[in-house]
Amino acid sequence: MVKICCIGAGYVGGPTMAVIALKCPDVEVVVVDISEARIAGWNSERLPIYEPGLDDVVRQCRGRNLFFSTDVQRYVGEADIVFVSVNTPTKTRGLGAGKAADLTYWESAARMIADVSRSDKIVVEKSTVPVKTAEAIEKILAHNGRGVRYQILSNPEFLAEGTAVQDLFVPDRVLIGGRETPEGQAAVKVLKDVYARWVPEDRIITTNLWSAELSKLAANAFLAQRISSVNAISALCEATGADVTEVACSIGKDSRIGPRFLSASVGFGGSCFQKDILNLVYICECYGLPEVADYWRQVIGINDYQKSRFVNRVVSSMFNTVAGKKVAVLGFAFKKDTGDTRETPAIDVCRGLLGDKAVVSIYDPQVTEEQVRRDLAMNKFDWDHPRHLQPVGEPADQPVAVTSDAYEAARDAHAVCILTEWEEFRSLDYRRMYDIMQKPAFVFDGRNIVDAEKLRDIGFIVYAIGKPLDQWLKDMPAVA
Ligand code: UDX
Ligand code: UDX
Ligand code: ADP
Repeated sequence: MVKICCIGAGYVGGPTMAVIALKCPDVEVVVVDISEARIAGWNSERLPIYEPGLDDVVRQCRGRNLFFSTDVQRYVGEADIVFVSVNTPTKTRGLGAGKAADLTYWESAARMIADVSRSDKIVVEKSTVPVKTAEAIEKILAHNGRGVRYQILSNPEFLAEGTAVQDLFVPDRVLIGGRETPEGQAAVKVLKDVYARWVPEDRIITTNLWSAELSKLAANAFLAQRISSVNAISALCEATGADVTEVACSIGKDSRIGPRFLSASVGFGGSCFQKDILNLVYICECYGLPEVADYWRQVIGINDYQKSRFVNRVVSSMFNTVAGKKVAVLGFAFKKDTGDTRETPAIDVCRGLLGDKAVVSIYDPQVTEEQVRRDLAMNKFDWDHPRHLQPVGEPADQPVAVTSDAYEAARDAHAVCILTEWEEFRSLDYRRMYDIMQKPAFVFDGRNIVDAEKLRDIGFIVYAIGKPLDQWLKDMPAVA
């Protein structure tokens, strides 16, 4: 029986291991984490992350061949394959601050593996890491190895939150990179055999280590670039009277471009895109490729521009001031069907509104008040440290309320900002909302999910990303 241990019970480690356990009933899978709260969550009826379909998978295998534990050393020591899925935050200090990946957690995981291993192991990079991390990990393991032999594989995870279970069941591809030696290739085969239980062989790609590591960064950079491209076009649409949905639909029909991932928005968020691009930028700089670094940096530049453009639009439409005005924010998660708020555009938008002295009232179906307050009080990049999982003290006093329904958020508000594309926001009773709001009443749709014409008929002034502007908005141009 193959034994698998995964270090890191987060958004990647948890769902991935649950699906491996489901599909390979004869493989023992133990997910370990230093966070007691996280492990307690995975062992409870309320899992620590919200992901459609995940409860069901965990319920089927937990206690059978899927276990969650804080006894990191024991299960790493017993495993044949050790997946490492720990945090790789952006460095906040020292060399490469604000760009480079902080490999502290990775290094400590590698040293711990070396300390407790008594049998040969395959160590698998699961969380995104900079290219050439495998080389550093090999060195740590080799120097502390005491005769134990290790093979390092890169097996980046491409699942997206909100669709994690589906993405794991039917992945576009599984990518495995390994050393081009007989031992390296044998290790690749062991991991390939695990995935081959449910993934068709032609979807399992094997490459060298560096291609696998770089492919993950490149895939996220390309995806983010598509969003920044359509968001850049959205600004031009507003200036010219073109409609970004029509433009996206037209260009997406070109089979070389394709229709997916072309929705203009208030900006992309999530734990990967910005972090991975910053990482790519830093790597390019390190290898003396400043032109390539500048090219990718601009993907983040447009994303920041898109968020501040949205805030400027809100403020300028409301007579250039939101001081003391209640603004309802619908949606705080970085996308629908997740409670995850890491790098959510809502943080920057709320901060922008608060900076202009608005009173902000937030509703999200999955995000708790504690999380919202923690996010608004947190320094940039701090979210990716395990301490973000620990309870915090009282955050600074802010004019922020978190409500348990959308109407409560909208009561007496001057404006509603839609920042996450939750399905339930499409079917709200906007007439009821209009009746309980101050007038003129505004809707700023950062996800293009409402029927703007219907809302205008009710009486709202409506702004939607990349759509032709109301006369009101044309008369009050936003200053960039
Ligand atoms: C992403 C990658 O998709 C996934 O392959 C990788 O493993 C991790 O990073 P994730 O961050 O979970 O996944 O979600 P994704 O669906 O990619 O969305 C990222 C952000 O882009 C969200 O804020 C989303 O709202 C935004 N987005 C996405 C858009 O603004 N427009 C789009 O058309 C698509
Ligand atoms: C392009 C568009 O494809 C077409 O839809 C539009 O109507 C006119 O402009 P064209 O310039 O004829 O067509 O050729 P295309 O195949 O797009 O190639 C343009 C250039 O890109 C060529 O120099 C080609 O060699 C290069 N290219 C294309 C690459 O370097 N890599 C690729 O993967 C594809
Ligand atoms: P991701 O989205 O990549 O899964 P998360 O932040 O959700 O990232 O999860 C990473 C997990 O790794 C956290 O739960 C954290 O507590 C855990 N972790 C970090 N360092 C270690 C370590 N040395 N040993 C065990 N777990 C660790």
